[in-house]
Parts: sequence; C-alpha cells; structure tokens
Amino acid sequence: MKVSMLSVALALAPSAMAWKEVSDCDDIKYTSVPGFFLQDDAKTDPSTFDYANFNFGLLNRTYPTDAKFDPRHKKTQWQRFANYVASLNDDCRKNKKDQTTTYKVLFMGRHGEGWHNAAETFYGTPAWNCYWAEQDGNGTATWADAQLTPNGLAQTTKANAYFKSRFEKEGLPYFESYYSSPLRRCLQTANLTFANQKLPHSNPFKPTIKELFRESISIHTCDRRSTKSQIHAYVPNFQFEAGFTEQDLLWEGKQGMGETSAHQVARSKEVIDDVFSHDDNTWISITSHSGEIGAILTVLNHRSFSLSTGQIIPVLVKAELVEPTVPTSTYASFTSEATCKSPPVTSISGQGCVCATATTTTFTTATITPGCKA
Ligand SMILES: *[C@@H]1O[C@H](CO)[C@@H](O)[C@H](O)[C@H]1NC(C)=O
Ligand SMILES: *[C@@H]1O[C@H](CO)[C@@H](O)[C@H](O)[C@H]1NC(C)=O
Ligand SMILES: *[C@@H]1O[C@H](CO)[C@@H](O)[C@H](O)[C@H]1NC(C)=O
Repeated sequence: MKVSMLSVALALAPSAMAWKEVSDCDDIKYTSVPGFFLQDDAKTDPSTFDYANFNFGLLNRTYPTDAKFDPRHKKTQWQRFANYVASLNDDCRKNKKDQTTTYKVLFMGRHGEGWHNAAETFYGTPAWNCYWAEQDGNGTATWADAQLTPNGLAQTTKANAYFKSRFEKEGLPYFESYYSSPLRRCLQTANLTFANQKLPHSNPFKPTIKELFRESISIHTCDRRSTKSQIHAYVPNFQFEAGFTEQDLLWEGKQGMGETSAHQVARSKEVIDDVFSHDDNTWISITSHSGEIGAILTVLNHRSFSLSTGQIIPVLVKAELVEPTVPTSTYASFTSEATCKSPPVTSISGQGCVCATATTTTFTTATITPGCKA
C-alpha cells in the first residue's frame, strides 16, 4: 500500500537532470564530511548547544584554499568556507573520473515551538501519546496541523535576526534553494525566518514545499497536513513540488496506523535523493521537524544530533553515485499505534498505553521491499 508513496518524489520529479544522468537504478551514497562544524564533534552536547552562540557551529579553522583566496586575511570564516566548498565542486567537475561526486551545504532548521509541543509538556508524554495527541485540541488550544505558540514565534524572530547578522556581517552565503515540510509549523517558521530578509535579487526566498520533508507520520493530528488549497492560502509565496496532492494521502491516523522508523528513513533518503539529483545548487535551507531531521541525519551518515524547537544544524554533505546494492530485507512500513478512549492511566516504555478501560488493538503491518525503481 505504501510502496507507491515511496516512489512519488522521483517519479514525479522533472526529467531534467542537474548533477548527472542519475538513473533510477543508481544509488547515492552520502557522507557528512567531519571537521567543519562543532555539531559532528562527539564532545558537543546537542541538548545544550545553541547555534546562535557559535556562528551556527562553524569551526574556526583554515582551509587548503585560503592562501590563494585570502592572502591578506580579510575574509570571514564563512567566506573562506564557501570558497573551499566551491573548490571541492570545481575539482569534481574538472576531474573526469570524479564527476559522480558532488558537495552541498544543507542548513536544516526545526520549526519553532508549536501548540502540540506545549500540549505534550502540559499533559505529559504518556497522556499525550495515548489520548490527547489523537484529538484536534482541547478547546483552548488547537494542535491539529499545529501553528506556533508565542514562544515558537519568538524562536523565529531570533533565527531571523541571527541569519540577518550572518548574511550581512559574516558573509554567510545566501541560500540558493529553500525547502519546507508541508506542515504549518514549518511553513510559518520558514516564512518568518526568511520572508522579510534583505535578500539579493539573485537569491530570492521562493521555497518549495516537499511532501516527504514532513514529520514522522504518526496517528497524531499534528502530523496530518492541510489540503493543498489551504496551504496555498496560508503561504501564497511558497510553491509546491510537482505532483503535490490536494488531500493528504499519507496520514492514516483514522485507521490507527503510524509510520515505522525504517519507512521514515527510506522515504527520507527518497526526498534527499530527489534534491541531490534535481537541484544543482550548493547552499540549501530545509525547514522540517525533529524526527524528520533525525532521519535525514541518519541518511547522511551524520551522528545523531537531536534538535530542540527552533534549533538549526548545518551539514557539509558529500554525495557519490554508486552501484546499487541488491536489497535483501523487507520491513514494516506502517503499524498500528495503541491509544485509549479516555486519558490513560500511564504508558510503559516498549509496551505502550495503559488505558483506564481495556481496549483491544489489532496489529497490522504492511511490508515494502526497497530497491531499484526501474
Ligand atoms: C569562532 O570565533 C568567533 C570569534 O571569536 C566566535 O564568536 C565563535 O563562537 C567561534 N566559533 C566556534 C565554533 O567556536
Ligand atoms: C489546553 O492545552 C494547552 C497546552 O497546549 C494548555 O495551556 C491549556 O491550559 C489547555 N486547556 C485546558 C482547558 O486544559
Ligand atoms: C509570511 O511572511 C509575510 C511577510 O513577512 C507576512 O506578512 C505573513 O503574515 C507571513 N505568514 C505566515 C503564515 O507566517
């Protein structure tokens, strides 16, 4: 059932190939290149790290290209890093043997605090997962396709000011492409972070909404997106990827079915493959979610780095075209998630909800076989 969904992004993508003729049967291998950002250092604690205290984590260091580019030591750290990354891509283009390699800098930002985050804190995680998250709200707050709380809005103001200072004072390159999850908390975060920046005409804020940058598709109502028309009315300055459907065809909360993490990692690779095979740009902003950015970091072979709301992580990514490996394993894509008909007694890690009144849950799984789409 979910097989079709996994091939949505590539099947509907425009046919022009930007990087190289990527065939459906090629595989792309990703490496997060270490040694450029604090976030890939094991000594950096993700729970206390704040991008705004550390120049987004960019290490103060020299690059092999500095001597030629900056003989008088006048350039900023970001300008020298950008020049180094450009030289990596130039070398790949010039070297015939290496035209299967490319580099991009991905800035991945988690949305600011939404009403669903506030409600999880308010009710506690067991009551949230087992009961409240399946409701649209509680009468005071609405968290179906949640919007930002005042705290979440303040986090976007902070990001807006920090990006402005980096762009205008520190030589951070302006992004060449922007992508966002279709969920409102991300649309709002991307919009408030970038829409009123002073950007050059060559690098406008024209974000593309991509279905598969959405959060883990759990049965929670915060993971169900609005219709395409509603999203368009909400952020008329955003564009949609080709094939974006009017209705949310992926959320199965009403059937009690949520996405497995194996499926999420596989579809995250699908969307990252789509970006790398159709977008020639190097400097890319992605606004997404904690679970989804976690899955993308897995795809990129970066260490786990959990982001608090409003936090941002840059990664220098090396991508290489490789011979596909023959898939040998299948995995469950969606499984049923336990809930209670009223707020639960508690929940037990690994066992799920402990309801006040007994409810039966049926356990269904669908399997998909990953592999060559041709
Ligand atoms: C690099 O140095 C600048 C200026 O001293 C400082 O603000 C920044 O936090 C440093 N970056 C890192 C990653 O330590
Ligand atoms: C509803 O949830 C919000 C947290 O999102 C909380 O602040 C509010 O007090 C709750 N309302 C009621 C009636 O419990
Ligand atoms: C998007 O940004 C524009 C310009 O700053 C603003 O007028 C609009 O209200 C914003 N919309 C949302 C949903 O954040």
